[in-house]
Amino acid sequence: MNIISATYLISSPKLDLCPAADRPEYAFIGRSNVGKSSLINMLVNQRHLAKTSGTPGKTQLINHFTVESQRNEKSPKLSWYVVDLPGYGFAKVSQAQRAGWEKMIREYILHRENLVNLFLLVDARHSPQKADLDFINKLGEWKVPFTILFTKADKETQKVVSQHVKEFQAAMKTVWVELPDLIVTSAEKRLGRPQLLEAIDRMNEAFSKDQ
Ligand code: GTP
Ligand code: MG
Repeated sequence: MNIISATYLISSPKLDLCPAADRPEYAFIGRSNVGKSSLINMLVNQRHLAKTSGTPGKTQLINHFTVESQRNEKSPKLSWYVVDLPGYGFAKVSQAQRAGWEKMIREYILHRENLVNLFLLVDARHSPQKADLDFINKLGEWKVPFTILFTKADKETQKVVSQHVKEFQAAMKTVWVELPDLIVTSAEKRLGRPQLLEAIDRMNEAFSKDQ
């Protein structure tokens, strides 16, 4: 699958204000600073589409981007949404802000009709973190399909990354019978892009068959 174009559409403070749910949608979520915005930019081949920052908490709203893709030259062009969500687990926010975030995200994840899959980002540099495992268990309760993307793999050796992946899978196995798909990525080194494109291509196809 090739990306033809990607453009910023709108930033919404809540679900009701999101654009019409008229095409497949993929949202990126994970801890603050894990690399969500960077990974979206890597996916669509644009350096500055989603705003990135060294300071956690940069992304605050539900940000929609319209992406146009094509499987090959003969196939029809397809339009879908990518959503950049604010990160969780950011220490420097008030209780009220945290509650606001949780409500916005819960409403979005539970009720966004065209949400096909969540990409849950986990930092490849760390052993399993409670905030990530807690969030994953919540997704299980909500019965939301998701894929785990390990980020910033360029910052560690392959050996350390695969050790963290194994630890993460072992931690999930204590709760889950079946483990979700998992892709190791680096926005810096453009690692994991083909796998990510393929996953989206497959889900786009399933979405169109459902309609
Ligand atoms: P919030 O919107 O604040 O939740 O952050 P985010 O998850 O969108 O992270 P963002 O993409 O803004 O990246 C955070 C920092 O990590 C930035 O300084 C990026 O340059 C850096 N970063 C992101 N991805 C990678 C990567 O694959 N490799 C390396 N080395 N750095 C990365
Ligand atoms: Mg961001």
